[in-house]
Amino acid sequence: MKTDKWKLSKFLLNKKFKFNRDYILKYLPSTLLIDSYKNISKWRGYNSTPLLKLNKLNKKLNLKNIFYKDESKRFHLKSFKALGGAYAVEKVSKKEKKITVSSATAGNHGRSVAWGAKRLKLKCKIFVSQYVSETRVNEIEKLGAEVIRVKGNYEASLKKCKLASKKNNWKIIQDVSTKNYKYIPQLTMAGYSILIKEISNQTNEYITHIFLQAGVGGLAAGLVAGVAKYFKRIPKIIIVEPDRADCVLQSIKSNKLKKIRIKKESIMGGMSCNEMSLLPWQILKKASNCCVTISDKNVARTVANLKDKKFSKLSIIGGECATPGVIALIGMCNNVKLRKLIDLNRNSNVLLIGCEGNADVKLYKQLLSKGRK
Ligand SMILES: Cc1ncc(COP(=O)(O)O)c(C=O)c1O
Repeated sequence: MKTDKWKLSKFLLNKKFKFNRDYILKYLPSTLLIDSYKNISKWRGYNSTPLLKLNKLNKKLNLKNIFYKDESKRFHLKSFKALGGAYAVEKVSKKEKKITVSSATAGNHGRSVAWGAKRLKLKCKIFVSQYVSETRVNEIEKLGAEVIRVKGNYEASLKKCKLASKKNNWKIIQDVSTKNYKYIPQLTMAGYSILIKEISNQTNEYITHIFLQAGVGGLAAGLVAGVAKYFKRIPKIIIVEPDRADCVLQSIKSNKLKKIRIKKESIMGGMSCNEMSLLPWQILKKASNCCVTISDKNVARTVANLKDKKFSKLSIIGGECATPGVIALIGMCNNVKLRKLIDLNRNSNVLLIGCEGNADVKLYKQLLSKGRK
């Protein structure tokens, strides 16, 4: 396992950092967090996902523990996203059977919405851009949803979804919040917060650092709200993004929501986003200690290392978006100054989020074989 040369692309300390539980829970209310756990934990097949330890990597990095929350085991959908979209569908449908739900997606969110619709026997229309893989489309179709391909990028698919939904009176279940669209994204984020509720029951160790990967920031903000609600001590929060899609870092740097231009899509497709969702921005601009970015360079190697027990005693199936926390932690530990600045030492209990397994089976196989070379 040769990781000594792994580096971060960028590091930014958040000058406006101020973690305030009440402030965070004003944007993502405690009642929603409680309700999401109450509902989702009753779903058939619900189990806490494993909280694993990367003990081999830990020996190398000299920390106390590296915990890895393994979302490859989240229901049969293989990603944390299963929690958000499906929960929002349940709440929005209010037991009404005649509605049709719709969504635009890069993959995992749409799969969750389609699964939520299937559970409740609702009709479902999912819009995808030309960049979403056939494998991901097939998975959504297997759940009984109609998938509509749209020429262009994610934004184009969302536009089409909004137009068609207005015309046909479909209920849009989107995970991105804007000024006039808050409640449904709040529901999806509340669903994600369950990860933290589970972790609070899975270890007695106080977590000192959390590495949170971000696309539009929904996962990160949902987990930050979980921390505000369920953790006794507040860990350092480190946001990780692909260097080709660093909209959180750029927003925090300029202290305003920034739309960036993506010149080339990252292999971490679910995180290849050009603009933050509004609610996550309101939460993360204060709650994040720092932001880091990483390149795609070590993604395949990390997928292979997780699978081939290089980081842990157990073999772990982690897809492309499950790797950035591991890569960023290694990059940070390799930089003596940063390691000190952020207090990563022998007393640190680091939490990484293994947010997806082989959700795209074909891509996973390609990454695995590339990473083993
Ligand atoms: C597997 C995976 N990880 C991370 C993310 C990023 O989540 P968010 O866009 O809520 O920040 C996504 C989003 O699609 C995803 O599918």
